[in-house]
Formats: sequence, structure tokens, C-alpha cells
Amino acid sequence: MTLPPGPQRTTAVHLWRWLWRPFPFLEECRARYGETFLLHIASMPPLVIMSNPEHIREVFAANGDDMHAGEVAIALRPFLGARSLILLDGPEHMRMRKLVLPPFHGERMQAYGRDIVAITHDAVDAWPLGERFAVQRPMQRITMEVILRTVFGLDEAGSRERIGAMLEDLLETATWPPLLVPAVQKDLGAWSPWGRYQRKAARANETLLGEIHRRREAGTAGRVDILSMLLDVRDEQGNGLTEEDLRDQLVTLLVAGHETTATSLAWTLHWVLGDERVRRRLDAEVSEAQRDGGITPERVAKMEYLDAVIREAMRLRPVIPLVGRVLQKPMRIGGYDLPAGVAVAPSIYLTHRNPAVFDDPTRFRPERFLERKYAPTEWFPFGGGVRRCIGMAFALYEMKMVLATVLARVDLRAAPGRPVVPVRRAITLSPSQGMPVIMASRWPRPATATA
Ligand code: HEM
Repeated sequence: MTLPPGPQRTTAVHLWRWLWRPFPFLEECRARYGETFLLHIASMPPLVIMSNPEHIREVFAANGDDMHAGEVAIALRPFLGARSLILLDGPEHMRMRKLVLPPFHGERMQAYGRDIVAITHDAVDAWPLGERFAVQRPMQRITMEVILRTVFGLDEAGSRERIGAMLEDLLETATWPPLLVPAVQKDLGAWSPWGRYQRKAARANETLLGEIHRRREAGTAGRVDILSMLLDVRDEQGNGLTEEDLRDQLVTLLVAGHETTATSLAWTLHWVLGDERVRRRLDAEVSEAQRDGGITPERVAKMEYLDAVIREAMRLRPVIPLVGRVLQKPMRIGGYDLPAGVAVAPSIYLTHRNPAVFDDPTRFRPERFLERKYAPTEWFPFGGGVRRCIGMAFALYEMKMVLATVLARVDLRAAPGRPVVPVRRAITLSPSQGMPVIMASRWPRPATATA
């Protein structure tokens, strides 16, 4: 067995840097140890970090029985529930994935376009004019509202508001990075960080189980929301999902889809507002769509430059820096004979900045995505293989709808001040200060833009 080189086991220091400064830490390690290196981080299995697409292909092509992703995410178990798709492995994962995947099929997304555009108009109407505000927060409101309507199927504004506020509060409590460390996950009373989280989670659990029960009773005929579809799914033996299965998947979809999408939206605005040339080209594409019948889901879906802008922003600032798989048997990966128990971890961040794949890799240049198609082992902000994000089509579609609507309605500027850098919020890397902006003007909402 040969393990790649890497820093010595100074776990506390590594954990600190990993939690608070992951990008400079990863870059330093690559410069020092090469494209494949070994990291030991607290309670996680040893991580073999890789950024060569050929090696990443070996990981993404592997069978789910030989490499377990659920084991890497074990720290999320108290947040997501033991039946979460993210935490299952092997045949159980395959069964659950088959059941959960169909509602996320690309074509289904069109059913949600009008809702997403209308939700964005409502949000933009409430933004303060001429004042500095952090855009990450309203983006979270938008993505939360989108999930409540399209995934949970909450049609009634009152219950959306009540449940949304409760879930937002719960998720905000969970973003403190140390809560991911098992040693901190101890209930020392209602005022301890974990105790507070536990009490809020118990209330959310009850509410979600209540909603699932109500929907089952009311019936799902004619409904297009994802919960209704999940209530109807059956495996080959005719078995559906239990209430706990459903609850854990709802929480998973919320946790996996809300903050990630909001953060990617905030990062995309960060790049667009910081680059006059890109901004002008994007504005021209938006104006053309407006002349061409307005910002409708069908028209926005065809906006190629916007698509390239989003992909380029996700290349430079992937909100999740890496994905991991624990080897279930000794395997040869990336030229190393690795023992079982080690985790191979394709680094999204380092691969996206690999100069052998992307020329001038630190430059924000969306055109590269119009000039060339990148392989799923070169650009993979949504991971890959049998574990690739099931919300990829949903998130890309949602981001396009939101950004086109925002750019058509308001003139946003980056607020002056300290540079915006990545900071960790639980599992995602977000723009510091929530990406401060100023709305210089707002144009009236078109009469057609209602849900
Ligand atoms: C910009 C937004 C998003 C990003 C960057 C993102 C990223 C990721 C990544 C990196 C993974 C791990 C993949 C791997 O291990 O190879 C993942 C998994 C997952 N994501 Fe997303 N995601 C986003 C949005 C969403 C949305 C909108 C949903 C659903 C509503 C979602 C649901 C999931 C689920 C259920 C998994 C687990 C898949 C499995 O283990 O089989 N994600 N996502």
C-alpha cells in the first residue's frame, strides 16, 4: 500500500483551517504535495484529495458498493435523519435514489418556472432602494419559498410563512460550523448550541410529519409538487416510502437545495457586478429577451450567456469544495494502491482551478463555456457518478429564472467596502458579509408576472 504525501497529523490545526479557511489550505497543500495528497481531519476518514480529471473519472465510474459516500457525510446524520438519501449507501442508496429521482427530471422543471419567476418578483419588490443590504439573505428567502411551493407543495401563503420561518430559524442555528463536529453534538440543556438545535429540530419534525400526513389524507391527484410525487412512488415490490423516509427526504431536499442554490446565486451576482464587460453582455441578453416577449420561463431557459455566467461562477466559487467516497476494499486509484477505509475526495475547487483543464483559471470568463464543453470530471460543482446531485437540473433552472428576473427588474451594484471572500456556513462556502449590494433603481413589474 502506498499513500500519497500530505501534512503531518496536526489535527486541531487542520480542523481549524479546514473549517474556517479551506480554500487557501487546499491550495497550499497542492502547491506543496502535488495534485494528489492526503489529509487527516478530526473524526473523518483519511482523505485522498485529487484534482486530476483522469483520476476523478476512476472515482465517478466506480460502483456504489465499492465506494460509500454516506459514510463521509456521517456528521450530517443528526441534521438529515438516518434515512436521508445523502447518508444511505450500497443497495439501500440505489433503491432510495431510484424512488426520489423521477420528480427531478429536467423536463419536469418547466412546471415550476412561472412560480420561480413570480416568487422572485415578490422578493425584488421588497428590497430597499438606495440602501446597502446583503443579497445572500433575500436569495435564501427566494430559494426557501421555491422549495416550500415546488417541493413541499404548500399552496397556502399563511402556512408557507409559518413553516418557512420555523425552518429558516432551524437552518440558521445549524450553520455554525462546529456543530458538524460530533464532540459538540451533546445536549447540555436548552441553552447549549446542540440543545437549542435539538429542540428546534423536534418542533420542525412534528410539523413536517403533520404535513406529510395531511397530504396523504387529502390525496395527490393532479398535483405537481415533489412531495405529492414522492407519496405516489413505488419500488418493484410495490412498496412506497414510509413517513420517516419521506420526512428525511424532505429535510434533505431542503438542506441540500436551499442554502446551496442561494449561495450560488449570491456568488454569481458577486462576479457579474464586479465585471463591467460581463454585465453589459448579460444585460444585452436580458434586454433581447424582454423585447422578445418578456422574461418567461421558456425564453429564459434559452439564454445561453446567462447559462455560461452561472457555470463560470460555479467553477470559480463552488459552494461545496469537494465530494468524498470511503473505499470498501483495497483499490488502485490515481496510481496509488489505497487500503479500505480511506476516502477518495475529488476536489471541486482545485479541479476547477487546474490550469491543465482551464486556461487562465483564476479569470472570470464565461465565454469559455460557450467555446467548449467540459467533461463531468472537469466541471462538477454537483459531484458525479452514482451520487451526483439529484437537484442539478432544478438548481440550474432555478438560478437562471431568478437571475434573469432580478437583472430585468433592478439595477444592482456591488456595495463599496472590504473585498468579498469565501466564509464557511456549515457545509457551504458563502460570500463574506452576505455579498453586500445597493439597488440603484427598480423598474415596474410586468402585469403578466403572477404565479
Ligand atoms: C447550486 C445548488 C446545488 C449545489 C452546488 C449542489 C451540490 C451537491 C453536491 C456537490 C452533492 C454531492 C454529490 C456527490 O457526492 O458526488 C449533492 C448531492 C445532493 N443534492 Fe445537491 N446541490 C445543489 C442543489 C440541490 C437541490 C436544489 C436539491 C434538491 C432540491 C439537491 C439535492 C441533493 C441530494 C438529494 C443529494 C444527494 C444525492 C445522493 O447522495 O445520491 N441539491 N449536491
